[in-house]
Amino acid sequence: MVLGFLGTGAISEAMIRGLCGNAGFSEPILVSSRSQARSERLSRDYRQVKVITGNALLVEKSDWVIVAVLPDQVEATLGELTFRSDQKVISLAAGISLARLSEWVFPCTKVSRAIPMPPIEFGVGPVALCPQDQSIEALFGRIGTAVSVSDEGQFNLFGAASAVMADYFDRVATVSSWMESHAMEPNTATRYTTSLFHALASLTLGQTPEVLQSMSAECITPGGLNEQFLTTCTDSGSHDTLKAGLDDILARLESNTGSTS
Ligand SMILES: NC(=O)c1ccc[n+]([C@@H]2O[C@H](COP(=O)([O-])OP(=O)(O)OC[C@H]3O[C@@H](n4cnc5c(N)ncnc54)[C@H](OP(=O)(O)O)[C@@H]3O)[C@@H](O)[C@H]2O)c1
Repeated sequence: MVLGFLGTGAISEAMIRGLCGNAGFSEPILVSSRSQARSERLSRDYRQVKVITGNALLVEKSDWVIVAVLPDQVEATLGELTFRSDQKVISLAAGISLARLSEWVFPCTKVSRAIPMPPIEFGVGPVALCPQDQSIEALFGRIGTAVSVSDEGQFNLFGAASAVMADYFDRVATVSSWMESHAMEPNTATRYTTSLFHALASLTLGQTPEVLQSMSAECITPGGLNEQFLTTCTDSGSHDTLKAGLDDILARLESNTGSTS
């Protein structure tokens, strides 16, 4: 199976490194010659990665085509290409619906959407998929936790939830910088903070909201420091802001894709 990437940007690189690294994917991977430095670096690092000049040739040679250009580049990029009915097209582009993609890649009808997150480079993190497709799940399952839904409205919930990434990193940075602002040596602050967030995040894996709520409750002693901080956050409306922010992103995604959850 030949995997072709239309667009060799940040997320394509993460996916290719994840597949060719620990996941041991050994089939040919074609990348476009755009983003020359990145494409050439990938083909130097992995013998199975070949740089192809011209999107038409890349599509012609690929069994599965990963669409990894920016959302506003998708229509123009796909519009000038010819797809076959025996191919699969998997779009990573945020907010571009299956209906629009299907129109642009006809007569190919096996069209999917995916949201791989950057940590797939290291074989961890979720990959949201729509619709359910066993072979696509198997591919992404090699580099992360593949989670599929058949309903595109539900898929938008993954899209909204994945937008917490920048905020998460920013919080880790803020705690670390706050320590530094109180004269802690930067390396000490960073080692402490990143280890704390990493450990806490790993404890959440696979837990239901009910279990997570009780984990939170177990950290609290009346009058203690965790209780004080949680109360400060909830009283300031931070949880409501989180939910309102997710609602806003969901509305934006739904207005793009025309599907509701
Ligand atoms: N980054 C993430 O965490 C993430 C996660 C999930 C999904 N996504 C989605 O994945 C897509 C790519 O995101 P990204 O962060 O990887 O973006 P990016 O780093 O900006 O990469 C976009 C790539 O598309 C290339 N490109 C643009 N027009 C092209 C064309 N006509 N033919 C071939 N290549 C073309 C660009 O090449 P040049 O550099 O030469 O212009 C660049 O290599 C987006 O639609 C985004 O919504 C991203």
